[in-house]
Amino acid sequence: MNIDLCKIIDLPKIQDPRGNLTFVESGNQIPFDIQRVYYLYDVPGGSERGGHAHKDLHQLIIAMSGSFDVVLDDGKEKKRVHLSRSYNGLYVCPMIWRELDNFSSGSVCMVLASNKYDESDYYRDYAEFMRARWQV
Ligand code: TYD
Repeated sequence: MNIDLCKIIDLPKIQDPRGNLTFVESGNQIPFDIQRVYYLYDVPGGSERGGHAHKDLHQLIIAMSGSFDVVLDDGKEKKRVHLSRSYNGLYVCPMIWRELDNFSSGSVCMVLASNKYDESDYYRDYAEFMRARWQV
């Protein structure tokens, strides 16, 4: 799983003077079925979240309100992605170390995930992730 697979997905936006609407359907806009939704909110300024990788989980990360950065790292290459639009989702494939920071006040980070919560799917230790990823 290469970091180049992690991309901003432009979600459909139904523009309307009464307020815009965006939708996500399993397997259509995103390459996985959604089994779980979770969100980060009331994030204090200066906080960092993430700091782990997933073995099998696919995710779509959306800034529902405000903005934040996601730092993606496959062990060889890193990229920082700024999310600030609720019609953009960042697709994160398995085996990518991610950190979230630079949260604006009042921001809400919603994550659509391909599976239910399973602690055994996490790498929380960077060295262990690197060993599994690159046999180093
Ligand atoms: P974690 O995934 O480490 O949060 P983040 O990556 O956003 O910093 O999860 C934090 C805690 O919440 C951890 O104890 C596991 C728990 N948790 C669940 O119980 N269910 C979930 O769906 C998620 C994402 C986390």
